[in-house]
Amino acid sequence: MIGRLNHVAIAVNDLAAAARGYRDTLGARVGSPRDVPEHGVRVVFVTLPNTKIELLEPLGADSPIAGFLERNPSGGIHHLCYEVDDILAARDRLKAGGARVLGAGEPAIGAHGKPVLFLHPKDFSGTLIELEQA
Ligand code: CO
Repeated sequence: MIGRLNHVAIAVNDLAAAARGYRDTLGARVGSPRDVPEHGVRVVFVTLPNTKIELLEPLGADSPIAGFLERNPSGGIHHLCYEVDDILAARDRLKAGGARVLGAGEPAIGAHGKPVLFLHPKDFSGTLIELEQA
């Protein structure tokens, strides 16, 4: 059911420093910072030949990544995003299989302007999973 790895998201406390590391030290193609207030993050996209890295910095006091950064003060991998052809069919199949879809279970528009859902990390080896409509 899942398809390509769309991105790996890394939560950071200092977005500018993380972007510099990817651009100047790792030599990656790094975009400009963009605020995504509806998800409580500021994001920089790093484009690799086969996938993307999203560097996420908290935006606002109640950012959903604030707790993660409290537990991981030097930052860390926050979630993996897999593409699916039909996000509603994927959700229904996952729920029927007992997986927990976070929030109300309705897709929200993600950082790339496409519908996304998040799955509970305890159901998938301790990894928060984002599904994005391909
Ligand atoms: Co993501």
